[in-house]
Amino acid sequence: MSKAINSLRAVSIIGTGAYLPEKTVTNRDLEKIVDTNDEWIYSRTGMRERRIARDDQATSDLAAEAAKVALADAGISADEVDLLIVATLSPDMFFPSTACFVQDKIGAKNAYCYDLGAACSGSLYALETAKNQIACGAVNTALIIGAEKMSTFIDWKDRNTCVLFGDGAGAIVLRATGAKRGVMKGSFGSDGSLANLLWTPGGGSRNPMTHEMIDRNEQYLKMEGREVYKHAVTQMTKSALDVLEKNGLCAADIKLFIPHQANARIIDAIGKRLDVQDRMFLNVEKYANTSAAALPIAIDEAAKSGQLASGDLMLLVAFGGGFTWGANIVEWTK
Ligand code: ACO
Repeated sequence: MSKAINSLRAVSIIGTGAYLPEKTVTNRDLEKIVDTNDEWIYSRTGMRERRIARDDQATSDLAAEAAKVALADAGISADEVDLLIVATLSPDMFFPSTACFVQDKIGAKNAYCYDLGAACSGSLYALETAKNQIACGAVNTALIIGAEKMSTFIDWKDRNTCVLFGDGAGAIVLRATGAKRGVMKGSFGSDGSLANLLWTPGGGSRNPMTHEMIDRNEQYLKMEGREVYKHAVTQMTKSALDVLEKNGLCAADIKLFIPHQANARIIDAIGKRLDVQDRMFLNVEKYANTSAAALPIAIDEAAKSGQLASGDLMLLVAFGGGFTWGANIVEWTK
């Protein structure tokens, strides 16, 4: 190993937080909006309900609430944050970044801020990006947030997609702490040739915001569900195995597997392939798929419900539009 790599600092999670909007929409509520039923949704997805943000809340509002909880959990003030990344596919607006709005809301005046776009994998990509900047000494403290107001970008007349998503935000504070391992080596990949299987085709420079585009409903998320399902299971399983190998570990070393909360069947299939069903974290029943927010919300919930003790290893794995995917192993040090 080179001297440069040896000198990298281990990076730890020092605080976590989550924010879920108050309004709960159950499967029964959805029965009144589209031709669906609780049995179909629950048996296909494991979802019972999801949270939906108020009309006056934007993604940065959800993100700021989660960030405040994470900073309090870390015991630091907002002006100690050097780097603030928001992973989202539902930004407040095209520009400026949602991260800049969050900076202003929480008073992180010493941070430099940007959004990161990797759809449902965004928080994991943000974790990797922030870890590397802290590890090499470019910054000391990073706040990464996964936040989504998916309800704005969902076609509430399309039963294929509207039942699957929810709103929420999760936040993680990272710092070099002298831990033995901290956030370990990651495994990441993307395949842009499959972008059209999960995307929002309208509203950007390819297909600008016009009356005709809106009449075609192209401002909403579109998905080939079965294709997404197959790729999600395959890539998340591969990423988990790859990250274990890269770090010289095996599945038995991991206390908790925290996958992107896309769908209980996807998570179950990955658990079976890795033979770790008893250690797969699942909360999709309560929040549905909150895209980039799902992973940090899950980490916060796992930690605060006592499922992680200091020294435990958790394996994070995600998959999303792009396609994008990845995995990382984190030593819990709190
Ligand atoms: N209620 C009732 N019926 C529905 C609904 C609904 N909400 N949605 C679709 N259907 C119907 C379809 O119209 C279709 O009817 P048809 O056969 O008459 O044409 C039928 O149900 C489709 O049924 P299946 O093919 O059996 O559905 P499947 O088992 O593939 O489940 C699902 C669909 C849940 C979307 C699945 O493919 C899936 O989980 N895909 C992954 C999607 C995902 O997780 N996306 C999230 C983004 S990516 C990520 O986060 C990983």
